[in-house]
Amino acid sequence: MKTVFVLNGPNLNMLGKREQGIYGSKALDGIAEECREAGKALGIEVDFRQSNHEGVLVDWIHEAGDKAAGIVINAGAYSHTSIAIHDAIRAIAPTPVAEVHLSNIYAREAFRHHSMVSPVAVGVICGFGPLGYTLALQALATKL
Ligand code: DQA
Repeated sequence: MKTVFVLNGPNLNMLGKREQGIYGSKALDGIAEECREAGKALGIEVDFRQSNHEGVLVDWIHEAGDKAAGIVINAGAYSHTSIAIHDAIRAIAPTPVAEVHLSNIYAREAFRHHSMVSPVAVGVICGFGPLGYTLALQALATKL
């Protein structure tokens, strides 16, 4: 069975407590469960992880290059700043990467309008809350 890494960046461990008006009330564990369910329906094993550390995310992207068929990533604020994550995704090409954001980053502050991940992603889903993860897994499955 193919494995997809679902990687989550900084502050996403705070979901459910953090800015509920923007990110909703579901905790990250609930999103992990939904991803595993979606994976089952798609015949994909989901390896769901979160880190607040940029280098750890880079290590996991490299690991995915060896072990996974694709990645779904919500890099949180690192999406807007991280050349290291951008380069890591390029380094594992052609492993497909789908970018997810819970919120619509284009309807928010200007500093969220640019993503370092988008130019190296096969596609981007934002603004649909936790459903975006399931949609990204479904979209990625069509590429595998
Ligand atoms: C986010 C959007 C980012 O701008 C923010 O820094 C996050 C979460 C989202 O899922 O909407 O931490 O990636």
